[in-house]
Amino acid sequence: MLELKNVNSFYEAAQILFDVSLRINKGEVAALFGRNGVGKTTTFRCIMGLNPPRYQGDIFYQQENLQGLQPFQIARRGIGFVPEDRQIFPNLTVRRNLIVGRKTLKDREKKWDLEQVYEIFPKLKLLENKLGSQLSGGEQQMLTIGRTLMGDPEIILLDEPTEGLAPLIAQDVFNMILKIRNAHNTSIFLVEQFSPHLLDFIDHCYVMERGRIVYDGEPQTIKTDLGLQKQLLGIGAKK
Ligand SMILES: Nc1ncnc2c1ncn2[C@@H]1O[C@H](COP(=O)(O)OP(=O)(O)OP(=O)(O)O)[C@@H](O)[C@H]1O
Ligand SMILES: [Mg+2]
Repeated sequence: MLELKNVNSFYEAAQILFDVSLRINKGEVAALFGRNGVGKTTTFRCIMGLNPPRYQGDIFYQQENLQGLQPFQIARRGIGFVPEDRQIFPNLTVRRNLIVGRKTLKDREKKWDLEQVYEIFPKLKLLENKLGSQLSGGEQQMLTIGRTLMGDPEIILLDEPTEGLAPLIAQDVFNMILKIRNAHNTSIFLVEQFSPHLLDFIDHCYVMERGRIVYDGEPQTIKTDLGLQKQLLGIGAKK
């Protein structure tokens, strides 16, 4: 469904990504792990056509090469992006924040409405008339994901969805991510710092180190290989 082939990316003259190749299949939950500054957000910015960075190489989405398309054109094709800084509207209510997420669909099926989003995130229903600025970090994360769903994505890119959340709330967010996948067989591609707890939630795993993919495989392999886990936890260590 989404495939990167030998993507090299640059901020000005500095090369950030080196021959990054990866693919996310329909209905799959894939994770890209890596420590701070390795190029996780840059990978997403390339996919979304955000500039900077510029990139060389190919990014295919449903057989179409995305190189040269504008971010809004890419989003309209069904790629939903939940950025690291959440970007909710502080002065709008939860309900309005969600409605803003609706998109004009380009040859795509309408899947999500407010009630369905509230089914995944019952908390948002309770908070529907509160302002964005009044929400906790976990609630804001749910709201950004909910708003993205309102645009009926076929695949969702989540940039560190559990960053700054307490472990139990992070767990909640992951359970909701699985519910989203199950509701409409939506693909999920998330980037995170490595955590062994996440291995149970994902179907496929990539690890990035200094702009290069250094692991591409089943989460099960990492689960049973403690040596590898130790190495990855080293990678996942905070700066
Ligand atoms: N706008 C920019 N201009 C120049 N360099 C940048 C820019 N944005 C990021 N970089 C550099 O590119 C590298 C990769 O950054 P990126 O944001 O992709 O990392 P990340 O893996 O998402 O890190 P984090 O876990 O901190 O979010 C870093 O060295 C960063 O300093
Ligand atoms: Mg980042």
